[in-house]
Amino acid sequence: MTNFITIKNMSCSIGDTHILKNINLDFPGKGFVSLTGPNGSGKTTLGKVITGILPFQTGEVLIEGLDLKSMALPQIGRKIGYLFQNPDKQIFAPTVLEELAFGMKFKNCSEEEIRKKTNEMLDIFDLRLIKDSTSYFLSQGEKQRLAIAAVLLNNPEFLILDEPTTGLDIKRKEDLSTYLDRIRDKVGILMISHDKSFINRHSDRIIKLEEGCVVYDKRC
Ligand SMILES: Nc1ncnc2c1ncn2[C@@H]1O[C@H](COP(=O)(O)OP(=O)(O)OP(=O)(O)O)[C@@H](O)[C@H]1O
Ligand SMILES: [Mg+2]
Repeated sequence: MTNFITIKNMSCSIGDTHILKNINLDFPGKGFVSLTGPNGSGKTTLGKVITGILPFQTGEVLIEGLDLKSMALPQIGRKIGYLFQNPDKQIFAPTVLEELAFGMKFKNCSEEEIRKKTNEMLDIFDLRLIKDSTSYFLSQGEKQRLAIAAVLLNNPEFLILDEPTTGLDIKRKEDLSTYLDRIRDKVGILMISHDKSFINRHSDRIIKLEEGCVVYDKRC
């Protein structure tokens, strides 16, 4: 099977700081990979490089065999759904419903389809009671659930979730687990996390970064 993402000898610096050092990794289009490691080890940076948000200097990144550097951001965004570590960076629409519907409206989906899918997400992520609330005033856990639901609604072929369980209580973490179990056979998932129990529950492979290098990469 060809890999969905291939990273070859990739290094990334910001200013004079070497953040990612000679990374070689590949990710299939199915299954659940966790990326862990200490604060500042480069996990978020790696997620941003793969989604084209952050430029890298050496090596290459291929998405379904295509050179990432030749792809426009919207083209990458149609394939890869990316949950930011901080949901405040993600949420921009004035209300919960508008945030959920935005991507589908952009893709010219029918009103009926938008209603059906947003309704499904309102239930799965327990957002129905706050569907008309102003996004800005939501609690941290509510923002996190909204950001996750909005990313999932776009039906990406590959998902990068940067610390998706942050701020979620036990029940809402369980809801997220159930949903990820449902999609993991169809979508490749790369989850960045420090949450050991969530990692152990879901991963079929765990990668660890330390100081910008891959120090561990094993199937579970
Ligand atoms: N824009 C930037 N300019 C300079 N340094 C940066 C920038 N963004 C990140 N860094 C540095 O790069 C390193 C890796 O940061 P990154 O956010 O990728 O870590 P992380 O592994 O996601 O950590 P955490 O577990 O805290 O989320 C850190 O030392 C950070 O200070
Ligand atoms: Mg991070």
